[in-house]
Amino acid sequence: MKNELKDKTILVSGSAGFIGFHTSQKLLEEGINVIGIDSLNDYYDPNLKNYRNNILKEYSNYKFYQVDISQAEDLKKIFTENKIDKICHLAAQAGVRYSLQNPSAYHQSNLQGFINIIECARNFNIKDFIYASSSSVYGKNKMKESGFSEEDSVDHPISLYATTKKANELIAHNYHHLFGLNCTGLRFFTVYGPSGRPDMAMYLFTNEIINNQEVKLFNYGKMLRDFTYIDDIVDGIIKSLEKSYAYEIFNLGNSQTIEVKYLIELLENSLGKKAKIKLEAIQPGDVEKTFANISKAERMLDFKPKTKIEEGVKNFINWYKKYHKI
Ligand SMILES: NC(=O)c1ccc[n+]([C@@H]2O[C@H](COP(=O)([O-])OP(=O)(O)OC[C@H]3O[C@@H](n4cnc5c(N)ncnc54)[C@H](O)[C@@H]3O)[C@@H](O)[C@H]2O)c1
Repeated sequence: MKNELKDKTILVSGSAGFIGFHTSQKLLEEGINVIGIDSLNDYYDPNLKNYRNNILKEYSNYKFYQVDISQAEDLKKIFTENKIDKICHLAAQAGVRYSLQNPSAYHQSNLQGFINIIECARNFNIKDFIYASSSSVYGKNKMKESGFSEEDSVDHPISLYATTKKANELIAHNYHHLFGLNCTGLRFFTVYGPSGRPDMAMYLFTNEIINNQEVKLFNYGKMLRDFTYIDDIVDGIIKSLEKSYAYEIFNLGNSQTIEVKYLIELLENSLGKKAKIKLEAIQPGDVEKTFANISKAERMLDFKPKTKIEEGVKNFINWYKKYHKI
């Protein structure tokens, strides 16, 4: 870590979430002060959020507020009580499918909450605002051979989740233009690793294998996906915090695709157990191959994802077994 962050206080929203936890832990390890905010909501098991948050509470340079960012007054109080240098905004209602069931959760956290926090950045004169966007903004785009690129138009989202993430990018542009706020948006591509999200594919596949349930593989297991290990994502976030560009958007992905069938093999090997696979045809609207073009992040952030899927899956399963006492 470079000197740019030394003695700084960084507000990490969503600090009890998967990416927020790992980002906070890395910053705390480096002696940086972290103000964590999280509502600890029950979109998935809050025990996992408390488990992560309790690890962070062991650090003396961590201060935690259980606050819902959609509540503007509660949020303002945190900024009044603390001198904050930079914001790393990761709190959001995540998940593509859930946005079909509960659209208002996305409105509340990803739109109202986003406006509340960026308003605090403006009103409390915080110069640097780093926030999570998502690869889902690429929506219906037809991917080029070189992968999804930040220059592609992203005007055709296919979920409310993606729509709110694209809206965040537009709001950030607005605040940069009007108030000179330095804004960097990070489009993450399927992040995985220890203490990962229970609603995401790798965790779900693992649960299914452990519980002898059928594992459905669409396109006969030949879907190609860009899985990005958490430590590489944290590295990209921290480099963004160090650089604080005026206004940028970066893809953060591994930029290498793996077949979902191969992922299942890796999970089987780490678990010592065979999956009950059901091969199915590709579903309407699904795309065979998606991955990030990361040349911009390589050039401007010196972003170099290092973790091979074999190593990452092993680390995830080791954690999973420990956490679930298997
Ligand atoms: N994990 C991925 O693969 C991925 C991919 C693309 C984008 N993202 C984005 O990255 C960010 C972090 O994702 P994650 O995987 O760690 O998800 P997560 O759900 O584990 O973490 C988000 C955290 O934010 C908190 N939160 C939600 N709404 C809140 C509110 N209104 N007020 C306060 N706290 C609230 C949740 O309790 C949770 O702990 C999110 O913005 C997500 O949309 C993640």
